[in-house]
Amino acid sequence: MANVGVVGVQWGDEGKGKIIDYLSGFADIIVRFQGGANAGHTIVIGDKKVILHLIPSGILREKTYCIIGNGVVMDPEVLEKEIEELKGLGYLQDDRRLMISGYTHVIMPYHKKLDALKESRSAKKIGTTGRGIGPAYEDRVSRMGIRVVDLIDRKVFREKLKANLEIKNFLIRRYYKDEPLMIRDILKKFEPYRKMLKRHVTDSTSFLHKAMAKKKKILFEGAQGTFLDIDHGTYPYVTSSNTIAGNISAGAGVPPSAVDYILGICKTYTTRVGEGPFPTELPGPEGELMRKIGDEYGATTGRPRRCGWFDAVLVRRAVKLSGINGLSLMKLDVLDSFDTIKICTHYKIGKRLYEEPPMALQDFYRCEPQYEEMPGWKTSIKDARRLEDLPEQTLRYIRRIEELVGVPAAIVSTGPDRESTIILTNPFA
Ligand code: GDP
Ligand code: IMO
Ligand code: MG
Repeated sequence: MANVGVVGVQWGDEGKGKIIDYLSGFADIIVRFQGGANAGHTIVIGDKKVILHLIPSGILREKTYCIIGNGVVMDPEVLEKEIEELKGLGYLQDDRRLMISGYTHVIMPYHKKLDALKESRSAKKIGTTGRGIGPAYEDRVSRMGIRVVDLIDRKVFREKLKANLEIKNFLIRRYYKDEPLMIRDILKKFEPYRKMLKRHVTDSTSFLHKAMAKKKKILFEGAQGTFLDIDHGTYPYVTSSNTIAGNISAGAGVPPSAVDYILGICKTYTTRVGEGPFPTELPGPEGELMRKIGDEYGATTGRPRRCGWFDAVLVRRAVKLSGINGLSLMKLDVLDSFDTIKICTHYKIGKRLYEEPPMALQDFYRCEPQYEEMPGWKTSIKDARRLEDLPEQTLRYIRRIEELVGVPAAIVSTGPDRESTIILTNPFA
């Protein structure tokens, strides 16, 4: 396949970073198409661990081009830090490999301030990452946003910033009764960012179309997960962008036909950070054990992730929404010590059984998960390198997930590092 899209099929943190890094070994270009520094994508190579928030997870490969697409909301402060960190670790020596679309919207200090104020003053918190994501996307939609192409032009930037600050400061001062932001402080802070971004700004649509004409292999990197999608997730407990594969086209500037294969990244249990419904959540000791074994703490905020059993109702829906061709089943090793393993096949609300997630939020909270129970394998699988190395019970668990969600496993992951990866179908093959 020429081009592959990678999306999360649950509530994020499925292990996208690991698999994107792995598949980048077969790709020429990696493009992030949505989200911002709310993402935390972890890559483990030997004893090195790198967490990327903005820069595509293909950047650790020596020859790949990495693009921050127009669908992303980009915080230059985070970007600068991330570039420095990568260089400090010996990566990204040739930083022309990193490109940013001129259409990408910029996260401004007032976006972060408003995100924090809204969360701290609201009775119903979303539990955002505090990275300014919602307010930045609001500005994009209301046509107030500042894009990279605007920022690198000193005059345009000043004008747009002035118009924005008038409104934001009104809100900050009058509604939130907080300290306003000063234009001169922002201009000063952003002067070096202007210079940095000038180095990386590209017409990425044109770049990608030329690359496609030359049959280069492109990997589209999703952030967050299907049930954090602004339309299809557990609204309002979602992020502010479309996270499903349909957004690859708009967020990268390629036609839908440019994507040949969609890989869904899927934990073999379920986690969620932040507020919102979670039918299969295990609030007791079993969930705590999963958190401990799986090291389930947010890669961006360090918050403990809520943990629970695999939910086939959700993944089945995600498969349909994104047209998933194959799944990458992640973190199977975390289930090594469980006597039995449960899979939620349906929800029950009152007396009715549901095969699909309910539409109303209040119904989501009322869902009683209907479980099937399977025997655990009670042995370590971290050294498995082929499917045949896995115990019979593990294989049965994989087969049952495939049956319930209607797509085959393409990859099985049994550890955080590159080596602990069993490839059944290479999406680029
Ligand atoms: P992402 O946001 O989807 O990229 O996922 P995160 O990086 O936020 O969280 C996934 C976590 O699981 C990271 O700490 C990974 O290093 C780790 N991980 C990925 N795959 C595996 C696996 O198969 N087994 C284990 N034990 N850890 C894994
Ligand atoms: P990756 O790419 C998990 C969650 C937040 C919050 C909600 C809205 O690492 O999988 P936001 O800051 O986006 O306005 O917060 O979305 N969230 C994530 N949860 N993984 C992520 O990204 C997330 N990005 C945002 O916790 O519930
Ligand atoms: Mg993450």
